[in-house]
Amino acid sequence: MSEAPARSPVSLRRALAGADDYLTRRGIERARFEAELIFSRSLGLSRIELYLDLDRPLTPEERERALELIARRGKREPLAYVLGEWGFRRLTLKTDARALVPRPETEILVERALSLIEQLEAPRVLDAGTGSGAVALAIADEHPGARVVALDVSAEALALARENAESCGLEIELKLGDLRGSIEGPFDLVVSNPPYVLPDEIDALEPEVRDWEPREALVGVGVPEALAERSRELLVPAGWLAIELGEGQQAAYAALVGDLGYEAVTITPDLTGRERVVEARWP
Ligand SMILES: C[S@@+](CC[C@H](N)C(=O)[O-])C[C@H]1O[C@@H](n2cnc3c(N)ncnc32)[C@H](O)[C@@H]1O
Repeated sequence: MSEAPARSPVSLRRALAGADDYLTRRGIERARFEAELIFSRSLGLSRIELYLDLDRPLTPEERERALELIARRGKREPLAYVLGEWGFRRLTLKTDARALVPRPETEILVERALSLIEQLEAPRVLDAGTGSGAVALAIADEHPGARVVALDVSAEALALARENAESCGLEIELKLGDLRGSIEGPFDLVVSNPPYVLPDEIDALEPEVRDWEPREALVGVGVPEALAERSRELLVPAGWLAIELGEGQQAAYAALVGDLGYEAVTITPDLTGRERVVEARWP
């Protein structure tokens, strides 16, 4: 009996081209770039190393491992979940479906938060709705004197934040609870990227967000407003509230915090020029 002909191994170049084509057909905009990131991750090589060795044959195991990740991305699972880690400020954070993927615009929130506490040697900071721990950990990393409490109502998110604190070697205090009640101050700064998507906006979001990210991290009617009210009891005199909001929500929120008695209300745009962060000082 003659043996079946051995299948010739597929080169990295061909596998990448196939993955690019597959992801493009599934509506991924930067398909080639993402395919490269996924192959880098599964082969344990940098993108430069991929380019230096495009004719390298893939072992069946390598190909299978990469294609498994490509298939996940093809189902529009967020790239950060597929890769399992994501950069935020100076940190690399573990990312999975337990919490929202940290966004580049939230780096502006951290920037503003850091500037509000830069004069304080050991500021007490509350990150309300910490998710992966991104904001809390970036502040602890970039202001080593800061004592940061990271609060979330989701035990799963908090577990991820704990893993991130450990892998980054940063100390923050993790608390499970609702920002509307279960936390005690005082704090020099309350910082938050709360859920701010309105229920009727959810269907219009990208599948990555709509179908994969935790719904309670996205939609939370009245949560930003509740935080402004609650922070009045949590902040020291002249303490700051800094909050990220969705497009078009800043002016109404600035008016609300003004009515609640906050001063020095400021709106900061993100890198694309869209209004993003509202900050206000408690008298
Ligand atoms: C938009 S995500 C932000 C996560 C993270 N801070 C970031 O910027 O990537 C909002 C987070 O707030 C949490 N959350 C929602 N409602 C909350 C509440 N009432 N009290 C505390 N946390 C809440 C969610 O579980 C979620 O992790």
